[in-house]
Amino acid sequence: MERTFYERIGRDNLRALIEYFYEGIKTDPVLLPMYPGDLEAAELRLFLFMVQYLGGPATYSERRGHPKLRMRHVTFPIDETAKDHWLACMQNAMKKVDMDAESRQFLWNYFVHTANFLKNR
Ligand code: HEM
Repeated sequence: MERTFYERIGRDNLRALIEYFYEGIKTDPVLLPMYPGDLEAAELRLFLFMVQYLGGPATYSERRGHPKLRMRHVTFPIDETAKDHWLACMQNAMKKVDMDAESRQFLWNYFVHTANFLKNR
C-alpha cells in the first residue's frame, strides 16, 4: 500500500514545520495582530489539522468538528498582502525542514491553493 504524506514527512517533522511557521507569525506585523488569542493553542490546531489532512490520525476533527476553513477565516481580513505574508512565513518554515521533493511540492501546492481559497477581501 502507498504511504501517506503524513508517514513520508513524519509527525516530528510536521510538528517542527508548524513550530517554525508560528515563530514567523510572532514577528510578522501583518499577521500577528490578526491572531486573537493563545498562539500555542492556534499552533496545535494547525498542527492537528495538517496531520489529519495528510492522512494521519483524525484528532483535529474529534476536537474541532468539520474544518470549515473558509467559514473559520471569515472574521480575519485576508487580503492579498495577508495571504503573501502567510505564504512567506510558511515558505521560510519549509526551508528549515527536511523532506523528500514530492512531499515538499505537494505541501507547497496545497498551501498556495488553500491560501488563495481563504482570501476574503
Ligand atoms: C491566507 C492567509 C491566512 C491567514 C491570515 C490565516 C489566519 C488565521 C487565524 C488568525 C486563525 C485563528 C488562529 C486560531 O486558531 O486561534 C487561523 C486558524 C486556522 N487556520 Fe488560518 N490563515 C491563513 C491561511 C491558512 C491556510 C492556508 C490554512 C491551511 C493550510 C489554514 C489553516 C488554519 C486552521 C486549521 C486554523 C484553525 C481552525 C480552527 O480549528 O479553529 N490557514 N488562521
